[in-house]
Amino acid sequence: MAPTILMTDPAHFEVDYVINPWMRPEDWHRDVEANRAAARAAWSGLAEALRAAGARLEVLPGAPDLPDMVFPANAAVVLDRRALLARFACVERRPEEARFRAGFRGLQARGLIDEVAELPEGLYQEGAGDCLWDAGRGQFWAGHGQRSLRGAIPHLADFFGQPIVPLELVSPRFYHLDVCFCPLPGGEVLHYPGAFAPASLAEIHDRIPVAQRIEATAEEAGLLCLNAVALGRTVVMARTSPRLRAILAERGYRVVELDLAPFILSGGAAFCMTLRLDRSTAAAVAPQA
Ligand code: ARG
Repeated sequence: MAPTILMTDPAHFEVDYVINPWMRPEDWHRDVEANRAAARAAWSGLAEALRAAGARLEVLPGAPDLPDMVFPANAAVVLDRRALLARFACVERRPEEARFRAGFRGLQARGLIDEVAELPEGLYQEGAGDCLWDAGRGQFWAGHGQRSLRGAIPHLADFFGQPIVPLELVSPRFYHLDVCFCPLPGGEVLHYPGAFAPASLAEIHDRIPVAQRIEATAEEAGLLCLNAVALGRTVVMARTSPRLRAILAERGYRVVELDLAPFILSGGAAFCMTLRLDRSTAAAVAPQA
């Protein structure tokens, strides 16, 4: 089955408030019309690259005054056609919960999702942005300490019935796991060590053999290129460094680099503009493409 990816129409995307250190409303407002046009073009470029890599896209409408709905990775965690909806830590994004709930009910009505569930109120967990499925290892990696609570992780483990390794994030710049950690289909894990608490970094080292660890520098992580979508041997990411591009090519990946500058002004890039709807535990035991 083709990978199915949820995106949100970018019509209402803006950079209006600051809830992470990347956000630059002043740069956005310097030329709103040009930035809106650039955002539309960047979004379409991403959609096109994903389709070219074999994905089928589902697009939800955005909503006025909810500029960050363009990042559906934060809407839910989805596995085996079951969605656990997010609870946002920042008040600015909380009204997105009702919109995404309706969006997921719609996907359910169309037979794309079987179950839509919710976390208890007050238990912040920002969806796949902080809960990455590692298909080769058959487990989740879950970020906490910035926008998701450690206490939400046992709920994720119970709901999905899958192993889940908590990783504590210590830097406000790397506020979601998906900006500093990226499991690739061949088993390699691209990550930025400086984003993690020492015990979590030790956990990463224990669980991932050194040959499969690809470490990014602070400068590389600062390009938000670790926020990447890997589909088979294709990795779609924001502009990266020649060094990382070469490492990925050596490992047999085809890197598709995109100019995602308007979204980087909001602290997001390729991965968080998407949400895979077709991840399944069945695929975990299949040979890796
Ligand atoms: N401005 C958004 C926020 O701070 C960006 C979210 C990007 N999402 C992600 N999963 N990294 O919430």
